[in-house]
Order: sequence, then C-alpha cells, then structure tokens
Amino acid sequence: MRHFTNVKDLGNLKEAVKEALEVKKNRFAYKHLGKDKTLLMLFFNSSLRTRLSTQKAAMNLGMNVIVLDVNQGAWKLETERGVVMDGDKSEHLLEAIPVMGNYCDIIGVRAFAKFENKEDDYQEKILSQFIQYSGRPVFSMEAATRHPLQSFADLITIEEYKQKERPKVVMSWAPHPRALPQAVPNSFAEWMNETDYEFVITHPEGYELAPQFTGNARIEYDQRKAFEGADFIYAKNWAAYADPNYGKVINTDRRWTVDAEKMALTNNAYFMHCLPVRRNMIVTDEVIESPRSIVIPEAANREISAQVVLKRILENL
Ligand code: CP
Repeated sequence: MRHFTNVKDLGNLKEAVKEALEVKKNRFAYKHLGKDKTLLMLFFNSSLRTRLSTQKAAMNLGMNVIVLDVNQGAWKLETERGVVMDGDKSEHLLEAIPVMGNYCDIIGVRAFAKFENKEDDYQEKILSQFIQYSGRPVFSMEAATRHPLQSFADLITIEEYKQKERPKVVMSWAPHPRALPQAVPNSFAEWMNETDYEFVITHPEGYELAPQFTGNARIEYDQRKAFEGADFIYAKNWAAYADPNYGKVINTDRRWTVDAEKMALTNNAYFMHCLPVRRNMIVTDEVIESPRSIVIPEAANREISAQVVLKRILENL
C-alpha cells in the first residue's frame, strides 16, 4: 500500500481485520520494519486519540516520529494557489510540502473540512496536495471527507464484539452545539457499506449525507424505529451537507440524544462513539458509563488500525 485515504486502499477487509487481530496479539513483532524510518505527523487541527495512537503505533514498529502542529510554532501556511501573499501567511503549502517530504519517509496529515467551500472540502484539496507534492506515502489522520483510521478501528471493534454474523448497526445523528465535519459519518458509512452487516442511518430531515458515502444504507428519519433490534448504536453529530445549509447547525433537538430509554429499544446494543463526545448532548452519562458502552476499547483499537496501515506502507517502501 502506498497511500491510505479511504477504505479501498486497504483491499480485502476480512484480511485486514485478521491482520489487525494478529498485530494486536503481538504488537512488537514488526519492530524491524520501521528501523531508521521517520514518520512525520502533521496536524492542521487538534487531536488526542489520533496523535497518541498513531505515534504509539509507529513506535511499536520501531519508527522515529516527528509531530508538527501547523498552527502552533510553524509559519502560517497559505493553501490557495495564485493569491498575493500580503497577509499574515508567510509560507505556501507548495514549498512547505516538498520541504517536509525531505525530512521523513511517511507523512500523516490531519486537515478537516473548513466549511468555506463545499467543492474544496469534497475535493480534499489539502490531502491531495500532500499526495501530489511530497514524494512520500501519505495517510489520512482525518481529512475533509473521511476518517479512515477511525472507521478501521470501528470495524475491528464491531468484529470483536459482535454476537451474530450479520449484526444490525445503526449510525445515529445526535445534537451538538457546534458545526462538526461529516468525515466520521461519511467514512463510517463507507466502511459499513463494504461489509454485509445490516446498516441503518438515522438523522433529522436536512442532515442527509452525500450519497456517495451512504450508498444503499437504509435511511430512517424515526430514530426510535431505527434503534429497534439494533446490535450496535454508533452515535455521531455532523453539520448539514445539503445546500444551502452546508456546514451549518440546523437542529440541536435534544430529543435525539442517545439515552437509556432509546437503548432499551435495541437488542441490548453496544454503544459506540469515536470520541471526543459531549455528554448529555450526544449521549447521557448513564449510557456512556453503562457496561454496554465500548467507547474505550474502540479508542484503544485506534493504535491497532494505525499500526496495520503503517506496517503495510513500510512493507511497500
Ligand atoms: N476520534 C478521534 O479522531 O479523536 P481525536 O480527534 O482526539 O484524534
């Protein structure tokens, strides 16, 4: 594997999960692969899990790691071509990318949607420039439209916890006070559509995701109906995708918060969320603290998904 930006880059998902479970059993078995190799992790946006889990995965593989927060300590970067740089941005991405490529063997990039221009976001302008100009393998640590390391960890977690071959997995929109990207729900939908699970998405009217991600998933506007018989509830907020409300919060109705009463409609479902989560907006304290909440093992699997991705890229260097 050269680059990792979406589910297709991983190939056969059953084999990828099998490999992940093997790596999880013995995470230091491939330490030789990363000897004298350097990972550069570049953050245009904040992170807790992605930062720590990816760095840990790289260290498990024997790599050296450099972490750069682009907005803290580096020159402010211009990302648009053709602009007169007479503002506060001192360096252009088109010089910065190949320079950074010289100092490492693999680059991980986190660059969220800016919600300024839907086309720019959905063309993955930042991530694709890294692929084009760095001369290095590039992997997404959450881009404008997808968060594949998260979705891979989610899939590993479902495979570990599922009690039937074809579980019912429900992704539910839940309220949040700020506009959040569609990357996690897009990506989760994309990955679930690659499995043979029963996959349902529930959200209020106006929160329809891009059809290229939802595919043939069942869309159910009645959250309670969606929850009936579910084996996994995957809660997430996202801002509106459809025009004219792209990137906007159009609903904060707390009747969509995941609570114990709604969980009682399920097949004793496990509760999942990628974290960070706003308690009592997305999910009640009672549900997230319940024995059926698997948000912590889900986050722990971020180390494993990152390690499989780095391992495959290193094997191909
Ligand atoms: N789930 C996730 O990507 O967490 P961070 O934003 O903290 O990295």
